[in-house]
Amino acid sequence: METVVSGIRSTGNLHLGNYFGALKNFVKMQEENNCYFFIADYHSLTTHPTPENLHGNVKQVLAEYLACGLDPEKSTLYIQSDVPEVAELYLLLNMNAYVGELERTTSFKDKVRKNPENVNAGLLTYPVLMAADIIIHRASKVPVGKDQEQNLEMARKFARRFNNMYKVDYFVEPQPYNFGEALIKIPGLDGTGKMGKSEGNGVYLFDEPKVIQKKVMRAVTDSGPTEKNSPMPEVIQNLFTIMDVVSEQSTIDFFKEKYAECEIRYGDLKKQLAEDIIKVTTPIRERILDISSNSDYLKKVTKMGAEKARESAAKTVKEVRDIIGFKAF
Ligand code: TYM
Repeated sequence: METVVSGIRSTGNLHLGNYFGALKNFVKMQEENNCYFFIADYHSLTTHPTPENLHGNVKQVLAEYLACGLDPEKSTLYIQSDVPEVAELYLLLNMNAYVGELERTTSFKDKVRKNPENVNAGLLTYPVLMAADIIIHRASKVPVGKDQEQNLEMARKFARRFNNMYKVDYFVEPQPYNFGEALIKIPGLDGTGKMGKSEGNGVYLFDEPKVIQKKVMRAVTDSGPTEKNSPMPEVIQNLFTIMDVVSEQSTIDFFKEKYAECEIRYGDLKKQLAEDIIKVTTPIRERILDISSNSDYLKKVTKMGAEKARESAAKTVKEVRDIIGFKAF
């Protein structure tokens, strides 16, 4: 049995990228591993939510975790800020994280480009907090989407550096994980890169069917193939990538053939895609509504998760303090 850790930022409703890149795998992994899954609300502070939004977002994501099938009896399901030991380990790891290497990470450079007016230190040290999240449970596997690969590489680096510095073999080097397959990247509907929470190009698990239809019908396409068997441009490939995770193989084959024969009608493809997405999201959406109205249940789940997560985190932090040399008089 391996120890698994992963989390999702509470910066808004979860989209298909979060579901297929991460959450669906959390649910599969909980069956055979010692799993810790959390809601990254400390991380969400880099974008300065109001107190009301902060709490509302955590509640929504918690309901979404549960609605997707996470079982709080099988895995430890908690809110990051309920485990302040994470903040202590983050502080300790920060002492061996170098500003140069943090500045060079792709996600930091991206954020600087997109929001030059809010380049805060939390953004810079984001990968350090993420490393603390993972190694605090000494996890070996981290189910994530492709966009988190570099952060995982940093987590391994910080774990290794700690071990080398104190000449111990204490932290495990965590590996990104997706059941032996390549990590997934679900594209957005605007034809530009990945589906994201702030990009306005996503389909949310909580979207109503009508909204999903509208979004998918508006997805970017081109004017269609003019030669048989011509290669697919990225915007069209993107729609097929989403189809790959929601549709039957026969449906995918049908539209691929239509494309190859220059007979494709994008309207038909989108209609089918919307229908198949709705099939996945509708039962989840209904469960989200159900669960989020049950405050007693949410309270019970978070209390139980916080206790279990803190036990594991406190043990690590105590051992780390010993290794570093903090001693009582
Ligand atoms: P976040 O909240 O942006 O995304 C949560 C998870 O969803 C995956 N994901 C995607 N996968 C495929 N295609 C997409 N378009 C897509 N968009 C998002 C992400 O890869 C991720 O697995 N830093 C993390 C949260 C975090 C974390 C951690 C994760 C904090 N501490 C420790 C693992 C372990 C983040 O911002 O993910």
